[in-house]
Amino acid sequence: MRLKIVAGNWKMNLSFEEAEELVSSIADQLEEIDLEETEVVICPPYPYLEMVLDIAEESVFSVGAQNISQFDNGAYTGEVSARMLASMDVDYCIIGHSERRKYFGETDEIIAQKIDQALKHEFIVIFCCGELLSERRAGKHFDVVRQQIEKALFSLSEKEFYNIIIAYEPVWAIGTGENATPEQAQEMHAYIRGLIASRYGNDVANETSILYGGSCNSKNAPEIFAQPDVDGGLIGGASLNADEFIKIIKVIL
Ligand code: PGA
Repeated sequence: MRLKIVAGNWKMNLSFEEAEELVSSIADQLEEIDLEETEVVICPPYPYLEMVLDIAEESVFSVGAQNISQFDNGAYTGEVSARMLASMDVDYCIIGHSERRKYFGETDEIIAQKIDQALKHEFIVIFCCGELLSERRAGKHFDVVRQQIEKALFSLSEKEFYNIIIAYEPVWAIGTGENATPEQAQEMHAYIRGLIASRYGNDVANETSILYGGSCNSKNAPEIFAQPDVDGGLIGGASLNADEFIKIIKVIL
C-alpha cells in the first residue's frame, strides 16, 4: 500500500512568532489523531526549519524544505545545499514547484540536478508538475506533464524512484481559489501513474504517492482525495491555518 500524505507548503509567509504558534497548534492537535498510514509533512521557510524540527521531534509530523540548491557545496552565496539540510535531519524536499520555475528560472535541467542532489543525500523528494491554463486550453496538459516528468525523473533508477512523491499542481489552480475538479485531478493522476508504470513497471507505479495541489482546502478535499489515484495533497494557503490544515489531514485518514 502506498503512503497517504498531506504536506503543508508555507511558502514565503509568516513571522517567526506566527510560525511557532502555527506549528505548535498543529502538533497539539495531532496528538489527538491516529495517523495510521498517513504522513504529515510541514515545509516551512529555511530560517524556521530548526524551530519546526525541534517541535517535530516531540510530534508525529515530518519536516521538509521548500527548495535546495543544485550545487553540492562551496561559493554559492545565498544558497542552501542538500548536504546542509540533511545534516539538520530534514527528510523531505519540494523540487520543481511552479513558482520556482516561474520566478527563479528553474528549468527541467536545473530541476533534474536538484533531484540528483536531494537523492544523493537521501531525501524524499516531492516533485511538482503541472500545466499552465493556456496549455490546458490548448489541450496540451498531458504532454506538458509527461515532458516534465520524463525530463526530471525518468533517468533515475528504480531504487531512486522509490524516494519520489509526485505532486500534480495545475498552475492555474495554485493560490487562485480555483481547484481542479475531482475528475480533472483523477484523470491526470491516472495518466501519471500510467507513465510511471510504463517506465518502471506496475509495482513501482502502485507504490508511488501522487498528491494533488492547487487551492485544496477542507471543503474540496473530501471529493478530490476520494479519487482512486489521489493519495493526498500539497497544501499552500490552507496550511497556514492550523484548524484548516488539521481538517484536511482528517479527510485523508
Ligand atoms: P495553494 O498552493 O494551496 O495555495 O494553491 C499549493 C502549492 O503551491 O503547493
